Amino acid sequence: MANVAVVGAQWGDEGKGKIVDWLSERADVIVRFQGGHNAGHTLVIDGEVYKLSLLPSGILRPGKLSVIGNGVVLDPWALVAEIGRLCERGVEVSAENLAIAENVPLILPLHQDLDRIREQAAGRAAIGTTGRGIGPAYEDKVGRRSVRLGDLSDDATLESRLDRLLAHHDALRRGLGAAPIDRADLAERLREIAPQVLPYARPVWEDLDARRRAGERILFEGAQGALLDVDFGTYPFVTSSNTLAGMASTGTGMGPGAIQFVLGIVKAYTTRVGAGPFPTELDDEIGRHLAQVGHEKGTVTGRDRRCGWFDAALVRQTCTTSGVRGIALTKLDVLDGLDELKICTGYEIDGRRVDHLPMAAEQQTRVVPIYETIAGWSESTAGARSWADLPGEAVKYVRRIEELIRCPVALLSTSPEREDTILVTDPFAD
Ligand code: GDP
Ligand code: IMO
Ligand code: MG
Repeated sequence: MANVAVVGAQWGDEGKGKIVDWLSERADVIVRFQGGHNAGHTLVIDGEVYKLSLLPSGILRPGKLSVIGNGVVLDPWALVAEIGRLCERGVEVSAENLAIAENVPLILPLHQDLDRIREQAAGRAAIGTTGRGIGPAYEDKVGRRSVRLGDLSDDATLESRLDRLLAHHDALRRGLGAAPIDRADLAERLREIAPQVLPYARPVWEDLDARRRAGERILFEGAQGALLDVDFGTYPFVTSSNTLAGMASTGTGMGPGAIQFVLGIVKAYTTRVGAGPFPTELDDEIGRHLAQVGHEKGTVTGRDRRCGWFDAALVRQTCTTSGVRGIALTKLDVLDGLDELKICTGYEIDGRRVDHLPMAAEQQTRVVPIYETIAGWSESTAGARSWADLPGEAVKYVRRIEELIRCPVALLSTSPEREDTILVTDPFAD
């Protein structure tokens, strides 16, 4: 029985939420393993729109267990607010269907302060973060000074964690001209929120192992995308976690052998939100057309997403670094009506041809995409639910993508709606 990891293969917002929600019907457990509430995953079920940031996209299906793994950074106030919003809409969230790793590090208001202060100070060099405190929280995790979820259950432990954390942050804040942390207030806020989040805290590595042994299917839900990975992305314009499929293992406490199929989510064109290199970006009518038809506005921050042609060189690279066995190609319908489409097959730099994006930041801004042009289609693909409903030119476009990225299409998505999805290969049927 296969377990499946779903990961973004571009710069995020590829449609992971929609695909995880669709696949979750076939899964028993859905697990987030990295990132935090910088993610914005949109699900559309019978016209009802749900936007999830921290909760796994399986939370809307009754009878499934949703898990937040240790690789995530968790803002407890954001979690409680998200649960509250869902409950208001009749979705049940309880310790029966949500478990959170007791060793997950917390995002605190001081992390959001630092995120904001740094971005403001960076001026034009700003990364364009979501302002959620993600980077500073991960820094504290590897700096061995995080407050973790389980620490909230014991007052003495919490106090000693705060000692370590504030010794660092107060010094940092002094240097940045910010006021010191009001320790009593922070401790009080943590004590207040604790009873609302501790009921979910569990050794989830053990639960996951038990369920795997019992033959249950586990679906790992990645956030962000491979090009935002802290090692393999367009550094420093990245997020602060590993977004590649390998993180599904250490971010949950399951061995690497627990994942049999990595499904890469790939948008039929390219988008990016925030600053950083983007070789196929279109600053013209077509770019604006894609943004408008694709509703390319950030789910979390409402910022406009930058749009461009499909970059096969990049996706070939990210399918390799994440070990992708099949892709879910999304938003094909957004390309309806364009006379011709371009696909980037590689780059030119200093008179040389390269087939992948160089790691050097300076080169990343200078590469010139090499395009091939392919005919568009005038018919609508929106809402298509079978391969036979697709115009011939759309099929050719999909086939050419498969060839260039050297990876087959397992699923095709033709609208935001859950059921407007074409299954080619079932990732769970390994
Ligand atoms: P995620 O972060 O990867 O989950 O993606 P987002 O939810 O941030 O952004 C993807 C957007 O595209 C959402 O608004 C989805 O509802 C929408 N979407 C997903 N698949 C399709 C599709 O096949 N066609 C269209 N038109 N929209 C889609
Ligand atoms: P989902 O899961 C798109 C981007 C931010 C910024 C950079 C760093 O919805 O695909 P951070 O707040 O993480 O320190 O910001 O990463 N970013 C995303 N872009 N989709 C996301 O998540 C993102 N999460 C972070 O815009 O450029
Ligand atoms: Mg998103």
